[in-house]
Amino acid sequence: MKKRSSLGQHTLDREYFVSNEVFQIEHERIFFRSWLLAGHISQLEKPGSYFLFELERESVIVLRDRGGDIRAFHNHCRHRGSRLCREASGELGATIQCPYHAWTYGLDGALRNVPTMSEVAGFDPANYPLHAVALTNWEGFLFVNLANQPQPFADALPGLVGRFREWQPSELRAADRKVYEVDANWKMFFHNFSECYHCPLAHPLLNKLAPFRNSENDLDEGPVLGGPMWMTNREGSMTLGGERCAPPFVGLNDEQRGRVYYYTLFPGAFFSFHPDYVMVHRLQPLAIGRTRIVCEWYFHPDAIAAPGFDPQPAIALWDLTNRQDWDLCLNAYRGVTSRAWQAGPYSELESQLAAFDRQYLRAMSEEPEPKNIPLRMV
Ligand code: FES
Ligand SMILES: [Fe+2]
Repeated sequence: MKKRSSLGQHTLDREYFVSNEVFQIEHERIFFRSWLLAGHISQLEKPGSYFLFELERESVIVLRDRGGDIRAFHNHCRHRGSRLCREASGELGATIQCPYHAWTYGLDGALRNVPTMSEVAGFDPANYPLHAVALTNWEGFLFVNLANQPQPFADALPGLVGRFREWQPSELRAADRKVYEVDANWKMFFHNFSECYHCPLAHPLLNKLAPFRNSENDLDEGPVLGGPMWMTNREGSMTLGGERCAPPFVGLNDEQRGRVYYYTLFPGAFFSFHPDYVMVHRLQPLAIGRTRIVCEWYFHPDAIAAPGFDPQPAIALWDLTNRQDWDLCLNAYRGVTSRAWQAGPYSELESQLAAFDRQYLRAMSEEPEPKNIPLRMV
């Protein structure tokens, strides 16, 4: 495969990291029209269970309905807008009742019970279902798209459909979840995850387990980027001691058992496929200079149920690495926000950052979706 060179390419200009206007445009042109990782099917085991996906002012209820289907709805009442669910996750029972005036919706989004509104001439509950949000179940990982007319998932994230089934992603369960908040722009985290140039200095242990020169990218342009990396111990895994925490996934071949596969999904998710577990990072931009990162470690339920199961060596290695990375991002963010900073040149080990920037600038140059509700002028 022809490798794209990053020679002569520079990082994004300072403005992209400090401007609140850029942050707003990013939401309109990127986040509100992309497929965003919201969670995993294992979070919705029973009918009536739900979790919230939140982004900027948006809140989405992702639920399993009585028939077992997974659905997503905007988390606001069609009467006067009250948030319907306030807890991050929970059980809904058979309906969703608004806490303000008790309008009640089925888990299919239909408005079922509307106190006193029968007195209003012409009012038809059928005209006021919850606003549905597009949802895709990719191998157990649930993605939502807030656009009015979302691009089909397979077109938006090519390279995902049909891949990674060997890791049985739809059957996995999270053994742990850690939430971090850092004072740095979301793109710093994307950039940082996309190169191992910093690994020898910043992550001596990680670099011993998988030396930074061992990586090769099999996806090097577009919204899904990344590739495999050989581990030093091809019978091991990326853990504190280099040993596996669980038996390797049954569908993996010898090569897959000896490698870790790192991929970024534009604009805000990272997948790391290890021989014995799958790690997922999700970015949530909170402000131009603040980002929440959720990191989860997924194992096969048989491994979790096995006597003596201990995921800590995997969790501890990546929690340590995460904290080292967040500190690098924070520190670099302090520099790029200086008035004197100018875009710096990429090395050959940073081709994936240049590819992210191209994808980002393509998305930023697209026309935003027309707003569905024009402002009413009085
Ligand atoms: S705002 Fe929900 S019932 Fe009034
Ligand atoms: Fe790192």
